[in-house]
Order: sequence, then C-alpha cells, then structure tokens
Amino acid sequence: MFEDIQIDRHRRLRMKGRLRDMVRETILTPNDFIWPLFVVAGRDVRREVPSMPGVYNLSVDRLAGEVEPAVALGIPAVLLFGIPEKKDEQGSGAYDPEGVVQQAIGELKRRVPELIVIADCCLCEYTSHGHCGVVREGEIVNDESVELLTRAAVAQAEAGADMIAPSDMFDGRVAAIRAALDEAGFVQLPILSYAAKYASAFYGPFRDAAQSTPAFGDRRSHQMDPPNVREAMREIETDLDEGADIIMIKPALAYLDVLRAARDRYDVPLAGYNVSGEYAMVKAAARNGWLDGDRAMMEILTAIKRAGADLILTYHAVEAARLLKGK
Ligand code: PBG
Repeated sequence: MFEDIQIDRHRRLRMKGRLRDMVRETILTPNDFIWPLFVVAGRDVRREVPSMPGVYNLSVDRLAGEVEPAVALGIPAVLLFGIPEKKDEQGSGAYDPEGVVQQAIGELKRRVPELIVIADCCLCEYTSHGHCGVVREGEIVNDESVELLTRAAVAQAEAGADMIAPSDMFDGRVAAIRAALDEAGFVQLPILSYAAKYASAFYGPFRDAAQSTPAFGDRRSHQMDPPNVREAMREIETDLDEGADIIMIKPALAYLDVLRAARDRYDVPLAGYNVSGEYAMVKAAARNGWLDGDRAMMEILTAIKRAGADLILTYHAVEAARLLKGK
C-alpha cells in the first residue's frame, strides 16, 4: 500500500543510539547546574530533610566536604540558604556579619575557591513569623523590608559571595540592592533575581527544610499569581531595568511556558528553579516503584533546558552530574 505514496520517514534517525546522539537538540551538562544547599547552626550536622530524600541540612564545618565532589563533577555553583539558631521579628540573622550564611560563604570561599557561591537573599528563613519581610498589622510591608534586604545583600557581599540572589518579590528590591552594593564598593558583583516567582504549592518541602512556613497568612501579596504569564514579562522587565544580570523563573517545571516566553523575549541569561516539591514528587514516586527516578529526573532537567533555561537550580544537581559523567 505504500508503493505510490511518499511518506516522511522520521524514524530513520531514531534507529541507532549513535544517530540519536548526533541529532539531539538539547544537551545537558553539569555546567548547567546550580546546587542549592541548606546551612544550619552547630557543628558536625548532616541531617536529611524528611520530605527531600538526599537533601541535607549541613553545618558550616560539613560544607566543604559535601561540595568538593560536586565541583569535581563539574558543577560550577551553589546557592546558599541559611537556617539560623534564633529567629526574630526583623530577621536579623540575615544581615548579621556573623550570621550562618555569612560564615558559610567565608568557609566555602576559603576551602573551595573555584566554586561560585551564590547567596539567596531573603528574610523568611530568619524571621520568627516566617514571612519574607517586616509585618505591620498583618501586612507585609514593602519598603522597610527592602531596606533590610539591602543590608543582607551587603553582609553577604562582604562575606565574599560571588553573586546575590534576591528571592523575596518585593517591589524595588533589585534597584535598592544594586545601589547598596555599588555604594559598598561591589560594582562588579552580579545580581541573579528571582524575577518571576509564583505563589506555589511546590515550595512545601523547602519550608520543611528551611523551617520557614509562615506562622499566619501566605505569600500571595508578593509572589505572583500562578495563572499569569504576561505579568511575568513585566516583572522581568522591571528587574532588568533595575539592574538584574540574570533572571530566574520559579518554579521551573510547572512554568515551562513562562521560561519559553522569557527566552523568546529577553537576551539575558535565564535560570529555572526546579523547586523542592518538583524534586520530592520524583523521589516519592521512585521510592514507590511508580516510575524510574533517574529517567524522570533527566527528562525534567532536559525539559527545563529545552524550554530556554541556561541555568538550572536543582537539588538533583549531583546525582544528575554523576549520571551525565557515567560515574
Ligand atoms: C524564599 C525562598 C523559597 C524558596 C527559595 N527561596 C521559599 C518560599 O518562597 O516560600 C523555595 C525553593 C524550593 O521550594 O525549592 N527565601
């Protein structure tokens, strides 16, 4: 029956593994990954986060040992979150020069100097109420919170961070942080802004890891409403105008269309955050034998890159790098 008709034989290039390798359009490498880490107070702590198998709360003294194998695999950067011993209303641990993240930055830059250390800049892990800023009469106030964030950014820069990543979604924070960094002499320090960060259910396990679940209310007055994509473009535009060097979409997997829209519209480096809930789902399903965890992980990371991300923040960084390197 095929004698008289011309058909496209798409399968020709799928017949052999080598051929598939040759025509592959998206190639993941360990250089694409940024590995998020949770630093806690204390000594000799390496405690697994229950909802994130394979992810640990680490004390400062355990960091370098954890990170060295990742660097050997070709992972260029980590993103640091701090969980302080004591939290207060103003989140003072975030801008204390002796705060846990500031210590971690110093330690990593001393012990693993080639590693790019990115500091997540937010107050939520440091406030007793778990909100990202100052709360007055039940409202998360913008400008006062931004003021505190600029202090955190400068403290992180002074500790030796290679990049500052504001993750709060308050208005004007990138401009304020840029100005504060410049004034403190850090004109060459780049800002990776969480430009379009959605109010997502997929942050659940992170709040477990960072002990930062809001004591009341939620983050919907500052993080974006999930159905919106045009608004994300406006958020990005603003952050670029204010001086962001790299922009991020978060979460990544549930927002691949937003990554694609941003990629088509802006020429700056683009990052996607494969968040805690996206990680936990794969781990949980794999543990139950419901899917092949390694294959699902690689497919998700490839999808994020295919959608347009140059950089992928992922808790899978080390296991994915191992698979890519065949180790
Ligand atoms: C806020 C922050 C959060 C995440 C990264 N930075 C939590 C939040 O907004 O509630 C979530 C990361 C993840 O889920 O993996 N500092």
